[in-house]
Amino acid sequence: MADILGEMRRTHNCNELSAKDVGSEVVLMGWVQRRRDHGGVIFIDLRDRDGLTQVVFNPEIHEQVHDKAQTIRNEFVLGVRGKVNHRPDGMVNANLTTGEIEVIITELKILNPARTPPFMIEEKVDVSENVRLKYRHIDLRRPQIQKNMITRHKTASATREYLNGQGFLDIETPMLTKSTPEGARDYLVPSRVNPGMFYALPQSPQLFKQLLMISGYDRYYQIVKCFRDEDLRADRQPEFTQVDMEMSFVGEEDVMGISEGLMKKIFKDVLGKDLELPFERLPYDDAVARYGLDKPDLRFGLELCEISDIVRNAGFKVFASVVKKGGIVKALNAKGCNNFSRKEIDDFTDFVGIYKAKGLAWIKVKDNEWQSPIAKFFTDEEKAALAERINMEPGDLVFFVADQPKIVNEALGHLRNEIGKKLNLIDENVFRFVWVTEFPMLEYDETEKRYQALHHPFTAPFEEDYDKLETDPLAVKSRAYDLVLNGSEIGGGSIRIHEKSIQERVFSTLGMEKEEYEEKFGFLLSALESGAPPHGGLAFGFDRLVMILCGQSSIRDVIAFPKTQKASCILTDAPSKADWKQLQELSLKIDKN
Ligand code: AMO
Ligand code: AMP
Repeated sequence: MADILGEMRRTHNCNELSAKDVGSEVVLMGWVQRRRDHGGVIFIDLRDRDGLTQVVFNPEIHEQVHDKAQTIRNEFVLGVRGKVNHRPDGMVNANLTTGEIEVIITELKILNPARTPPFMIEEKVDVSENVRLKYRHIDLRRPQIQKNMITRHKTASATREYLNGQGFLDIETPMLTKSTPEGARDYLVPSRVNPGMFYALPQSPQLFKQLLMISGYDRYYQIVKCFRDEDLRADRQPEFTQVDMEMSFVGEEDVMGISEGLMKKIFKDVLGKDLELPFERLPYDDAVARYGLDKPDLRFGLELCEISDIVRNAGFKVFASVVKKGGIVKALNAKGCNNFSRKEIDDFTDFVGIYKAKGLAWIKVKDNEWQSPIAKFFTDEEKAALAERINMEPGDLVFFVADQPKIVNEALGHLRNEIGKKLNLIDENVFRFVWVTEFPMLEYDETEKRYQALHHPFTAPFEEDYDKLETDPLAVKSRAYDLVLNGSEIGGGSIRIHEKSIQERVFSTLGMEKEEYEEKFGFLLSALESGAPPHGGLAFGFDRLVMILCGQSSIRDVIAFPKTQKASCILTDAPSKADWKQLQELSLKIDKN
């Protein structure tokens, strides 16, 4: 059978040859990174995923081969045979592993020509992300993305090695399944054989891993795809990957211990960094009080400070009336920032508006006075109390938000991160882990007018709070824990409910009638009656973890084929219209106005 490669087979990759190979005949294959024509001699940097090698076409050595090389352009795919030579004096490139040598070519196969690429295969390219994603097969050739993919692979390998070593079993769970409530919308898949019926793609393997514990498969893990139809951001994709795990006969400490061991192994194997264990713990209430968010970035200070008591009767009505209506007022002291311009302050005011803050009051602390639109409303006593509580010193700029606690904390928490970045307070080489613990079990959803689980409804409440499930649901704490790294939630889990009666009470508190929860979760309730061990686990957001390991700011850069902000794949053009025949087979009709 004739084939374009013929007898030609690679002897080395494009990052392998060095001075010790001088004199040997080699065969390389790869893509044309760059072609230079120097007065008759053609130089080509040949690239594969390992690196670059300079190959040389010299008309004096092989005229025919040289002539053929004249047709070569960027991204052509070549197979070349030749002899390894020392580069001439002064031509050695110390930045390149193969920089001491070049290969003088005697045989050339153009395995495939290529159209001019839409952008250069370089570290930094000046094109929009949409162009990169449309030509992702070319974007993936770029060194940074390649490094990211390799880091992703190493992280997965380290994960498997560690968990296998700890006695975990890798067990697959279904993709065509029933809804698993993790707080997002489901992706539905119509069933042809059961007209009018739908599967849901898993938001996580949560219930299956609990069933596995009930079946006796203690210590399960899986590196698994999860699907969530939610609003996308830099750290959220509609399909993403979790390192999912579950253990039996354990408490919080056991799950956290295994998770910490896993992080230590990954950081050592992938980055060569030694992490100190155990990680810091921070109860949810403290995290929110001090940093405004349940995923605080602890690489810098700038803690928030509540001042509701001081301004309760102040002449500034915005503050006083919010406090009287049960809201709070908090301050963020941007140390040394009193040189911020009005424009900068206005931009921050718009920024906190994203989190529904109605305004952003501020005070600039000058040597002998406060410069501020609101200073005139405070008595000397109030001013003294504020100055002391907020530690106001000349040079400072203090921001205030007054509103319901959720709005105040979110607005100032995110503002704190913005200011931390703007002031360069963040050391990018530091990895600050923190476990956030003691979460409330529930939150009240104002639009839906009902309680919602802050994690998921299978999270165990504190035993001492069982009685509050019916009487004071918002006061119930849960046995959930999140692992936060540099302000990003990279994992979350909990000890689960293993008693049917408690699970039923939680469903009731969430506003479900018996009929509803029996229909949705009857299989779980039945399993809980069949000998369910106490169990718990956690899932890491694998893409987020890899993003941080790669020093990237979007998970799209660590996923080979990611979706855009609009949940589409512009490379393949998905989602796309379905053929009417397919719809008919599925008993579906499109009703789109
Ligand atoms: P949770 O919903 O917290 O928990 O998810 C676990 C981790 O997955 C990551 N993550 C995401 N990453 C990218 N895109 C998304 N859309 C996305 N959503 C979540 C986060 C998060 O910490 N079953 C539970 C785990 C458990 O209780 O064991 C669960 O899925 O890093
Ligand atoms: P106003 O009285 O609306 O002119 O607001 C005076 C200042 O207070 C402006 O700087 C507003 O941004 C700010 N402000 C208004 N409402 C709030 C609020 N709820 N929290 C914090 N500052 C506010």
